[in-house]
Amino acid sequence: MDKSLRIARVTLSDRASAGIYADRSGPEIERILSAAFAPAPTFLVRLIPDERAQIAAALRALCDDDHCDLVVTTGGTGPAPRDVTPEATRDVLERELPGFGEAMRAVSFATVPTAILSRATAGTRGRTLLINLPGNPRAIGECLPPLIPAIRECLKHLHGE
Ligand code: MTE
Repeated sequence: MDKSLRIARVTLSDRASAGIYADRSGPEIERILSAAFAPAPTFLVRLIPDERAQIAAALRALCDDDHCDLVVTTGGTGPAPRDVTPEATRDVLERELPGFGEAMRAVSFATVPTAILSRATAGTRGRTLLINLPGNPRAIGECLPPLIPAIRECLKHLHGE
């Protein structure tokens, strides 16, 4: 990849967005993706409560107005009543790529049986790839690195290469 990617990292959490605890997940996404892509990506940062309409509006703007190549969310993918990230993501996706969620659950399940509680999905809107990750920073370290080759290939396809 010879151009600098525009990447949004979006943390979905009622408590982190209220300042009750620090967001450690967004910085973990940035750390992993900075090491994976050269030249250094530009990161846009969002911290949003678990509100479906607010999440969908932010994702739409990151795709349509900010023209991000990649939008990675963390949090809100589980089965709790306030977990609405996959629904908000599907509200904005034009095409779903279910393999990303399937792969995350598959790679983690053998060692982390609770990995299948994540309903994370992914897909495209225009030329933007959107991917949900679970909220736990350790889960990000387990789930994101194996996705890098498919992210790289998908971005090439979206750029028409
Ligand atoms: N995946 C990995 N690799 N490691 C984890 O610790 N936690 C699971 C799952 N996926 C976990 C994981 C748990 S306990 C939940 S509830 C779901 O992710 C959803 O997390 P989220 O609601 O923070 O997105």
